[in-house]
Amino acid sequence: MSSHKFETLAIRTQSEQSQNREHSTPLYLTSSFTFESAEQGANIFLGKEKGNLYSRFSNPNTTEFIDKLCLLENCAAGIATASGMAAVYTSFVALIEQGDHIVASKDIFGNASYILSQLLPKMGVHCTFVDVDDHIAWQEAIQENTKLIYLETPSNPTLKIADLDFINQLSKTNDLVFIVDNCFASPYLQQPANFGADLVIHSATKYIDGQGRVLGGAILGNETLIQKCYDFIRRTGASLSPFNAWVLSKSLETLGVRMDRHCANALALAQWLEADSRVNKVSYPFLESHAQFHLAKKQMKLGGGLVGFEIAGGVEAGKKFLNSLKIFSLTANLGDCRSIATHPASTTHSKLNPEEQLDMGITPGYLRLSVGLEHQDDLIEDLDHALQSIS
Ligand SMILES: Cc1ncc(COP(=O)(O)O)c(C=O)c1O
Repeated sequence: MSSHKFETLAIRTQSEQSQNREHSTPLYLTSSFTFESAEQGANIFLGKEKGNLYSRFSNPNTTEFIDKLCLLENCAAGIATASGMAAVYTSFVALIEQGDHIVASKDIFGNASYILSQLLPKMGVHCTFVDVDDHIAWQEAIQENTKLIYLETPSNPTLKIADLDFINQLSKTNDLVFIVDNCFASPYLQQPANFGADLVIHSATKYIDGQGRVLGGAILGNETLIQKCYDFIRRTGASLSPFNAWVLSKSLETLGVRMDRHCANALALAQWLEADSRVNKVSYPFLESHAQFHLAKKQMKLGGGLVGFEIAGGVEAGKKFLNSLKIFSLTANLGDCRSIATHPASTTHSKLNPEEQLDMGITPGYLRLSVGLEHQDDLIEDLDHALQSIS
């Protein structure tokens, strides 16, 4: 099966049929499973026999979802989690000890940044943050007690690209665990394990669901690291629910076609914005003007569904732009088939002071679009109208 192409694997990886011979995998809404005998129960408990025991540990729906994602990410093992943040948190806490050190890129999701800068220090674990594209800073940040490297690529919200080959080499030379949050690209566009990442994280809430319905997450990697993450999740309880796993496994069936359209729409909007004099700067990995265009082309199949751009007029203009949009939703999500517009300075990154925002590349007039699957002409008309309202 694993010799098949992405689209076939995404559709044809299914759990075993029940005696009803269903075509589409049913939903297993059960919190526990029965044993044929006391002996079998004891064997499953001791791990001597395979089988489901309790849905916090495993369930046919979570198993199907994670087996499929392992094939799509080219990873040997995986564990499904209740949300993307559960995956991020587990990948740190399951692998570190008091006194350890982490190096992470600055451009990461705010809550991941909170865990690294505020929560883990309470447990005696400290983090150095570096610019994702500054190779010297990555090298200089490594200490004797460094254990993990963590990054997102493309990064949030500025869409910078991490050089996965370089960071893989750095982590292998220093015997570090290299973790990539692949949420912005999805496995259809980029498979970090092929560049040497030891763990790949997903917020499945984003492109994997793709329709803004459920929360979910996943950690993929080698058997040894995943076993540590599995032990942590199983005992602490951030497991994915069977219902959400069922939704997400079905969603993976259409990930490829959705990503093709997300990327085609995003590229069209990025090109249109770049040609417009009311816009200062556009950031999209597959625009030739992107500082890391060639690196993005090497690592990603297409440019992704997110576009960043800057308008004059600062925070007030940003808010006015959002209020003038008719189709784009104003909501705290991305990766949905519905297009979404975000003004990081006044929303997602408003807790940072202006200097901290600028340090992350977030100018007062920076806007981020998660380009959906609506017709691109309608989306362009909406942007045009909103830009008129501020000019
Ligand atoms: C890159 C990235 N990673 C992780 C998360 C967290 O995912 P979740 O909301 O599913 O917990 C997000 C959420 O926006 C994200 O953008």
